[in-house]
Amino acid sequence: MKAIVVTDQAAGTAGMTLVERPEPEPALNDVVVQVHASGFVPTELSWPSTWTDRLGRDRTPSIPGHELAGVVTALGYGTTGLSVGQRVFGLTDWTRDGTLAEYVAVEARNLAPLPGDVDFTVAASLPISGLTAWQGLFDHGRLRAGQSVLVHGAAGAVGSTVTQLAREAGAYVIGTGRAADRQKALDFGAQEFVDLENDALEDIGGVELVFDVIGGEIGRRSAGLVRAGGTLVSVVGPVETRPADGLAVDFVVEADRAQLGEIVQRVRDGRLRTNIGNVTTLDDAVATFNSTKRTTGKTVVRVRP
Ligand SMILES: NC(=O)c1ccc[n+]([C@@H]2O[C@H](COP(=O)([O-])OP(=O)(O)OC[C@H]3O[C@@H](n4cnc5c(N)ncnc54)[C@H](OP(=O)(O)O)[C@@H]3O)[C@@H](O)[C@H]2O)c1
Repeated sequence: MKAIVVTDQAAGTAGMTLVERPEPEPALNDVVVQVHASGFVPTELSWPSTWTDRLGRDRTPSIPGHELAGVVTALGYGTTGLSVGQRVFGLTDWTRDGTLAEYVAVEARNLAPLPGDVDFTVAASLPISGLTAWQGLFDHGRLRAGQSVLVHGAAGAVGSTVTQLAREAGAYVIGTGRAADRQKALDFGAQEFVDLENDALEDIGGVELVFDVIGGEIGRRSAGLVRAGGTLVSVVGPVETRPADGLAVDFVVEADRAQLGEIVQRVRDGRLRTNIGNVTTLDDAVATFNSTKRTTGKTVVRVRP
């Protein structure tokens, strides 16, 4: 099968190559999925799980990409709940070969059924952004109606989903980003926008929840904006400055079939809009990932035309 592999951590996306690889075999409780569309988050090339397995052994050449939408072609021993020919989407294990390939082996529990009226390209854009937003807002942030949320990077893949889900939950949303992202963030439902390059973040006053996808100086300054009893949720590593009288949580997104079902249902009924910035093919993906052109939103790789 065709697959994109990486062998050199220092090379970043420039080290990605399209090669021929053997098709994967399903392990216990796995399915093999013929990948129709795939998602990729560039930062995964800096994560240890891309380079070593759970015992710390080198696992290169490894196949990046952990979001997929496709069709089940085989079941492993003991696999239940999904069947051959079924449309699925989901998030694959960080320490196994991923989805920038024509086929992937993945535990069935990491996937959810994909309704027939949702396009594979749309579905492949959902798992990481959707689950990260859902888990950050509701599992870790304990968001309730009437609360205020500061959503950093609100025009980006995660931030635009956070914005929409928070609004639907009855929160007041203040989005942030670059000057050029103002209208996009407002279109996704932010009620205010802070241009981090020109406005003073501190002018917003206080919020119950900060959802940080940027970190660094922005993350440190955001801690002071969390009201008593509130939470700073980070998806960009451990929180450096904690709220004086609130919680700080950093987390890595996990696969969750029920939450994937909630997310795709919202796409079907129009409550959630996807944020796809770029659609490319497996043949052109390496060039797309290495392009210097600025796009906002998710890049989806259409693996099967
Ligand atoms: N822990 C987890 O489970 C998890 C899950 C998903 C994502 N993440 C991480 O979350 C981050 C965001 O992911 P994403 O897919 O949403 O990325 P994205 O689509 O690129 O969105 C990030 C947005 O924030 C903006 N931004 C970044 N730094 C900024 C700054 N200093 N000032 C103003 N705007 C800034 C970006 O603009 P520019 O493009 O112009 O910089 C972009 O619009 C990534 O680091 C990703 O690795 C973590």
